[in-house]
Amino acid sequence: MILFPFTKVNPIALAIAAALALSACGGSSNNNTELSDTAASGGDRPTDNTNVPVTGTTVSDDDQTDSSPDDDVSGPGINPQNTPTTADPLAPLGASTLTEPPGPDDEPTTITRPVTSISRYFIVEDPARRIEPVSRFALTIDDFNAGTPEPIITAPEGFDIGTNAAPYFEGISNREVFAGQTLEVLYRPLDDDGGLPGMFPNELPESAQFVDNRDGTKTFRWVPLQGDIGVTSFTVTAVDSEAPLYRSEQTILLHIIEPDDLSSIPNFPPVVNEVLPHTVRVGDPVVFDLKGSDRNSTYPSVEILSAPPGSTISPHYIYEDITVLHFVPTEPGVINIDVVARDADDPSLTGSRTVSVSVEAREDFVLPGQRLRALAGARNFLIGFASLQGFYHRPDGALYSDLAGLEFNIVSTENAMKWDFINPEPGTYRWADADNTIAFAQHFNQVVHGHPMIWHRQLPLWVRESPQEELETHMREFIDRLATRYGDDVAIWDVVNEPISDEGGFRDSIWMNAMGEDYIDIAFRQARQSDPDGVLLLNEYDIAWDTPKTETLFPLLESLQAKGTPIDGVGFQMHISSEFNDYDEVERNFQRVADMGLDIYITELDVAIWNNNTGFEEQAQVYERVLDICLNQPACKALQLWGYTDQYSWRRPQTPLMLDATYKVKPAYLALQRRLGN
Ligand code: XIL
Repeated sequence: MILFPFTKVNPIALAIAAALALSACGGSSNNNTELSDTAASGGDRPTDNTNVPVTGTTVSDDDQTDSSPDDDVSGPGINPQNTPTTADPLAPLGASTLTEPPGPDDEPTTITRPVTSISRYFIVEDPARRIEPVSRFALTIDDFNAGTPEPIITAPEGFDIGTNAAPYFEGISNREVFAGQTLEVLYRPLDDDGGLPGMFPNELPESAQFVDNRDGTKTFRWVPLQGDIGVTSFTVTAVDSEAPLYRSEQTILLHIIEPDDLSSIPNFPPVVNEVLPHTVRVGDPVVFDLKGSDRNSTYPSVEILSAPPGSTISPHYIYEDITVLHFVPTEPGVINIDVVARDADDPSLTGSRTVSVSVEAREDFVLPGQRLRALAGARNFLIGFASLQGFYHRPDGALYSDLAGLEFNIVSTENAMKWDFINPEPGTYRWADADNTIAFAQHFNQVVHGHPMIWHRQLPLWVRESPQEELETHMREFIDRLATRYGDDVAIWDVVNEPISDEGGFRDSIWMNAMGEDYIDIAFRQARQSDPDGVLLLNEYDIAWDTPKTETLFPLLESLQAKGTPIDGVGFQMHISSEFNDYDEVERNFQRVADMGLDIYITELDVAIWNNNTGFEEQAQVYERVLDICLNQPACKALQLWGYTDQYSWRRPQTPLMLDATYKVKPAYLALQRRLGN
C-alpha cells in the first residue's frame, strides 16, 4: 500500500509516487545492471505503457500497485494548491480565440522510417511543413520607394543639443544593386562644430566588409547573393568626437534585384556542416542527420560515400539539405564516414567532411554503484535532468535515453516546450518533441516538469511583434493550450520564468510592458484554471544566494501570496561554477521560501569549470553541498540538473555536468550518489 501525504489523490500525485516507488524497486532489484532491451521493458519498467497515447494518459492505481514494493513509500509531499486562490478567478478564455487553436493538422504521427535512434518506445514527428517565420515589419519595395530614412539622433540625458550639432553623413541614400554585383557605399561622417566623428556599422551582412580608408572615410562593401534578393536595410552610427553618447544613426534601404541571368551570381561550393564527435554503444541504432549548407542559400544534396555495412540512407522528411544515415554498429572501434555536399546548381561544386563515431562495448556504459533514482526514491526525493530536445535524432540517442531512464525519476524539457518551437506561427503547432519527452518519461516512469510557460526569451517572432493590447490574451491562450495538451502528463510547471532583472526590480519584457507586474499573477491564475492539479512554480536564476534579485524576489512572493495568486513554489535555476561558495546564503534563502509555505525545486543545476584553478573534484563538492542543502530542507522537493552529459550541455566548453561527453562517470556523479545514499 502506498501512503500519500495528499489531501486529494490526483493523477499527478499518483504519477509522482509511481516514479518514486519504481526508483526504490529498481534500487534493490536492478542495481548496476546495464539496461538491455529486455531490462528496459521488463526489469526497469513496471507495465508496458509503450503503446498508450502520449497525451491524456495517467498512471492508474493498477500501475501503482504493480510497480510498488510491498512496504509503504510515501510521496514526496508535492502539494499543488497549497496556496488557495482567494481572489476572483480570471474571466474564462472565450470560445472565440485570438489565434487558431491546435487542430488535427498539427497532430504528430508515429515515425516508422529508420530515422531515429530509439526503438524502445514510439517516437512521433510533426507534420511535414517548412516553417520560416517572416516579420510583419519586413521591408518592402514600397518602403524602398518612400526614400532614405531620416537619421535618428540620440543624446545622453541632460545633454544640451543646442550647443553641439549632431554628427551626420553626407551623400548617403538608398541603393539598388543586382545580386552578384558589388555594392560600395562610402561613409564620410561630418560635424559642423568641427572634430572628426567616429562611426560603426550596427550590424554587417554575412561576408560584407566595412573597410577603413584611412582618410576619415569607410566603405561598406558587399556582394549580395540569391538569398539576399529583396529589400533590406543597413545602418551606420556616427559618434560625436566630444560626447561619445551623442550619436546619429543613419539607415539606408538596399534593393537587391534578381538578375535575368542567374549565372552572373558567383556560385560558392557548399559545405557539410560540422558534426560533434560522438560515442555510441554496440548494438544501438545510430542515426546521423547530415546537413549541407551553401552561402548562395540553395540547398545542396548530401551524399554518403562510405556508409557502414547495413546502413539505410533516407532523405529528411522536411529539409532537402539533410540526409539521414541509420545503422547498427556490431563491434567496438572507430567508424569513419565520408560525406559530400553537392551544389544544387552546379554538381561539380562540392564540399566534404569525414564524420567519426567511436563505438564502445555495452559494458563500458554500466555506471558503478547504485542508480541515483533508486537512492533518491528510497528517501522520497526527486532527482532529475533536463532532456535534450530531439535526442532521438542524435547518433547516441539510445544511450542518452537509457542512461537518463536509469538514473532519474524526473525530467524537464530543455527546449521542447518553448513557445518559439511549439507555436512558431499563429495557428501552427509542433508538439512532437514535447510528446516524445513524455513518451520517454512514461516508458521510464518519470515525473514530467514542464518548462517554461511564460518567459521573455525564445518567443516566436509573431508574439514579439504582437500589438501590446493582444499580449494578455496570447499569454493566456498559450498557457491554456500547453496545459490542455499536457496537464495530465506534466506534474510541475515553470509558469513564469525569469521575471526579475539582474539589477533587481521587474525585468523589462513584452509582458511587463503590456500588463505591468500583474502579468505574473494572471499567468499563474490561468495555469491553475487550465491545470488544477499542476504544481505551479516561479523559476528564476541567481536567487539562491543574495543578489539584487533576491531583494525583489521576497517582496514579490509576499505580494503574490497576499493577492491569492496560486503559486506553489519557487524554482532555483542554479547555473553556478566550481568556485561557488555561498552555501550559507542558499540555506537561508531556502528557509525563507520554506517559511512562506512554498516548495523549493532546484530546477537547472549545472556547475561550470571556468578556469584551471578548480577541476572535477571541486565541481563534485559543489554538487554534493547543493544536494546536501536540499536534502536537509524538507521543502526542497527535487534536484534537477540542466542536462546530464557534457556532450549536450548548453555550457559544453565548461563541462558542467555529472557525466563527461563520452558518458563516463565524473566525480560529480559519485558525489551525488554518495550524498543520496547517506
Ligand atoms: C537554455 C537551453 O539550455 C539552450 O539550449 C537554449 O539555447 C537557451 O536556453 N534558463 C532557462 C533555460 O530557464 O530555459 C535556459 O535553457 C537556460 C537558462
